[in-house]
Amino acid sequence: MKRIKRHLSVFIAVAFIAGIWGCVEPTNSSMVTSVAQAKSRDKEEKSPYEQDVKPLTTLDCARCHYSVFEIIRDNGGKHQLDCQFCHETFHTYRPDKNWSDVVPQCTTCHGEIHGPTFLDCLSCHGNAHMPIAGLTNMTTLEKDCANCHTAQSAEVTQYPSAHSKVACSDCHHTQHGYKPDCVECHEQPHTDYANNDSCMGCHPVHKPLEIRYTEETPNGVCATCHEEINSRLISTHKKHASLQCAYCHQETHGNIPQCQDCHGLPHSKGMLDKFNGCTDCHFDPHALVLPGH
Ligand code: HEC
Ligand code: HEC
Ligand code: HEC
Ligand code: HEC
Ligand code: HEC
Ligand code: HEC
Ligand code: HEC
Ligand code: HEC
Ligand code: HEC
Ligand code: HEC
Ligand code: HEC
Ligand code: HEC
Repeated sequence: MKRIKRHLSVFIAVAFIAGIWGCVEPTNSSMVTSVAQAKSRDKEEKSPYEQDVKPLTTLDCARCHYSVFEIIRDNGGKHQLDCQFCHETFHTYRPDKNWSDVVPQCTTCHGEIHGPTFLDCLSCHGNAHMPIAGLTNMTTLEKDCANCHTAQSAEVTQYPSAHSKVACSDCHHTQHGYKPDCVECHEQPHTDYANNDSCMGCHPVHKPLEIRYTEETPNGVCATCHEEINSRLISTHKKHASLQCAYCHQETHGNIPQCQDCHGLPHSKGMLDKFNGCTDCHFDPHALVLPGH
């Protein structure tokens, strides 16, 4: 903007001085005097025909195509290139020519970037001079999300959940590439919200019921829903009380471990054969109360 303004002010100043000159000069002076004047002026500055012609710069194009320039300057993104990088030829449009033959073709530089089904580039990119900012709105793109983002849409269908019924563009609203916060829709989640990662550690967003978690997950998170088990666990004086829920119920929600996974066979086989299992005597792993203890 600054540069353009400076150009304009230089232009205005030159025009102004030229204007004064025009006024001061006698308008109907004879040929002889004007030839003489032209010659004397020549001593100060060269005639155009003695100078090198410099190619038009992007700023020169901008003087006439200011609106195009403005679009690229404000929203062009990576298309902030010199005009002639794309328009190797220009001003060649005639009624007998096709428009598409005189303007640059996207595919010359980008090829069939999204594959052969997406060839009408401007139907989505909107404006050649601001291809990202000009993208059509999300509702229009919706029908094609799955054709470009095959991995995510496969996940959503392969793992049915409530999110499979939410449209891609209901979460990714506003503009292409936008990612929502969980709390936009889940105002009061069952555990504190710090950021999406804190939720997605357990719920991968496109398959939220494929719950995974680590051994370090604090018991408090489980306790929100399993309050009764948690209070039983912390009130026991047995050694299980100091363990994390997730240390025993590893990785996936609902996973139930076997006592032997950790303890092997702590009693004689003869004794164990007389019982159905460890919990016949130890009852509940969250309390470990033995009869009479
Ligand atoms: C990245 C490549 C690219 C750059 C850079 C670019 N253009 Fe274009 N321009 C195009 C394409 C492609 C079209 C044809 C769009 C269409 O088919 O409607 C076009 C169309 C035009 C048109 C006619 C349609 C309209 O929007 O008025 C003008 C005028 C124009 N460009 C001027 C410029 C100027 C001036 C600049 C530099 C300030 C520039 N272009 C920079 C690719 C570019
Ligand atoms: C003196 C003014 C002026 C300058 C300087 C100028 N143009 Fe143009 N240009 C026009 C006019 C007038 C048209 C035809 C009307 C329209 O499309 O706006 C045009 C049309 C165009 C078109 C569309 C049709 C075609 O035949 O290509 C493009 C592209 C274009 N100009 C690019 C450029 C580029 C690139 C530059 C700088 C290298 C430039 N122009 C410099 C005035 C100018
Ligand atoms: C003369 C070559 C040329 C033409 C023609 C051209 N582009 Fe580009 N385009 C580029 C370059 C160079 C980049 C920047 C690439 C980079 O930095 O990764 C780019 C980047 C882009 C980007 C990414 C922009 C961003 O800000 O991230 C999009 C989208 C795009 N082009 C779409 C189009 C479309 C649509 C057309 C046709 C209307 C088109 N291009 C025509 C050269 C071109
Ligand atoms: C159905 C809509 C649609 C069509 C048609 C389409 N695009 Fe795109 N294109 C997109 C979307 C959406 C993006 C992602 C934009 C972003 O990164 O935010 C994109 C991104 C791009 C990029 C940036 C590449 C990258 O990986 O970041 C380029 C370059 C591009 N398109 C060029 C083209 C060209 C050239 C055509 C025509 C051959 C075209 N597009 C047709 C929707 C479309
Ligand atoms: C024509 C292909 C195309 C279409 C249609 C398209 N996208 Fe994209 N999308 C892209 C490209 C290319 C990118 C940028 C490169 C990437 O990260 O894959 C992108 C990026 C994204 C991102 C950001 C990725 C990141 O890592 O930051 C999201 C989110 C997204 N798209 C969602 C959608 C949704 C939702 C739809 C449908 C409403 C959609 N896209 C339609 C091509 C497309
Ligand atoms: C319930 C909301 C929601 C729905 C529905 C949803 N997404 Fe997402 N999506 C997100 C969130 C949140 C992220 C950010 C994930 C991250 O940061 O890792 C994301 C990330 C993405 C990304 C970036 C790459 C990645 O996997 O992280 C793409 C592409 C994407 N989604 C496409 C889609 C498509 C296509 C659909 C529809 C089939 C869809 N999404 C449905 C919320 C959703
Ligand atoms: C655009 C709204 C929206 C966003 C954003 C969103 N969700 Fe949902 N989510 C829903 C809806 C609607 C349901 C179904 C009703 C409910 O359980 O509240 C749902 C259900 C769920 C479910 C239960 C799934 C089931 O099938 O029962 C989980 C888990 C979930 N969301 C986690 C998340 C996480 C984690 C995030 C952030 C990464 C998130 N959601 C972002 C709309 C959203
Ligand atoms: C330690 C893992 C874990 C974390 C972290 C976690 N969740 Fe959950 N979430 C679960 C489990 C387990 C369920 C119960 C699933 C079931 O019903 O089978 C669940 C259920 C849900 C449901 C279904 C409705 C309900 O309340 O029963 C929603 C919605 C949800 N979580 C959203 C979130 C959000 C948002 C966050 C982040 C603030 C989050 N979750 C963090 C494990 C977690
Ligand atoms: C948002 C509520 C919620 C959270 C948080 C939650 N659960 Fe659950 N959990 C449930 C519900 C509801 C069930 C019963 C329905 C089912 O089987 O999915 C359940 C069932 C279970 C089961 C028994 C499965 C069976 O087959 O009987 C175990 C084990 C379990 N949860 C462990 C955990 C652990 C460990 C955590 C913490 C990492 C946790 N849960 C967090 C809601 C939750
Ligand atoms: C994921 C591993 C794990 C599983 C599964 C597990 N335990 Fe334990 N258990 C431990 C650890 C660790 C200790 C403490 C050992 C120590 O500190 O010496 C322990 C201690 C005990 C003790 C001694 C308690 C005390 O306070 O002295 C008993 C009894 C016990 N477990 C019984 C069981 C029974 C019965 C089951 C199955 C219902 C079971 N455990 C399942 C890891 C496990
Ligand atoms: C020492 C390992 C261990 C710890 C620690 C542990 N559990 Fe368990 N849990 C088990 C075992 C083993 C079973 C299976 C008991 C059976 O078969 O009767 C079980 C069963 C369950 C069940 C399903 C049966 C029921 O009682 O409802 C839930 C839910 C559950 N645990 C949640 C939790 C939660 C929540 C925590 C943490 C507050 C936790 N567990 C801590 C080992 C453990
Ligand atoms: C017939 C009842 C009975 C059965 C069945 C039984 N236990 Fe025990 N177990 C006991 C008694 C009694 C003790 C000692 C009580 C104490 O020290 O509190 C004990 C102690 C233990 C201890 C603590 C040992 C130590 O050195 O501190 C572990 C661990 C244990 N049992 C695990 C198991 C496992 C695993 C099973 C199933 C494979 C099992 N028990 C089956 C009665 C039983």
